[in-house]
Amino acid sequence: MRGLILYKSNLGSTKAYADWIHNETGYQVESIPNFTPQHLPGFDPIIIGSNVRTGFLSAGAWIRRNWPLMSGKRVLLFTVSGTQPNDTGYQYQVLMRSLPEKIISSTTYLHLPGRFSAGALPLPQRVVRALAIRYGKDPSIRQLLGADYDHVNIENIAPIVAWVRELERQG
Ligand SMILES: Cc1cc2nc3c(=O)[nH]c(=O)nc-3n(C[C@H](O)[C@H](O)[C@H](O)COP(=O)(O)O)c2cc1C
Repeated sequence: MRGLILYKSNLGSTKAYADWIHNETGYQVESIPNFTPQHLPGFDPIIIGSNVRTGFLSAGAWIRRNWPLMSGKRVLLFTVSGTQPNDTGYQYQVLMRSLPEKIISSTTYLHLPGRFSAGALPLPQRVVRALAIRYGKDPSIRQLLGADYDHVNIENIAPIVAWVRELERQG
């Protein structure tokens, strides 16, 4: 069966990772808002990339809704946010807030670091950012949103490509 990469991205970093994985694997790549879930049964494995916004996976509701069409398949989920891969405590909190344990335990999960530039935000998102900095509960996220950073790097996809190669090896 064919492999598929789905992604949800607002500022482009999750899309960049999805496109790089597409170049390495040849899997079809689609953005979640443009993809018809009824096509899911034709794909396996499935790689899903989601950015993190205000403590939740942007693709969380979509994954929960469409999980019945994916269960039993080989699914890798990667998140992209302001935190570094070693900040696993925060990333699991976000994951568990966004998805039920049943889904989390059925996927291979990885986190990739993202990018943020306040100047690139459209006006409504600048308002969300300003509110998150002012009223957000988590001081580290308030700090993250206050400064620009870019940790997006093609080398970060290596574990995902290795996962695909291992599945190919198993046949
Ligand atoms: C409005 C807004 C809210 C965000 N909330 C979080 C957050 O709660 N936790 C976090 O680690 N990063 C947060 N970020 C950082 C993004 O996850 C990061 O910029 C990521 O690279 C965005 O992915 P994208 O470029 O695919 O949209 C936020 C960014 C924006 C603009």
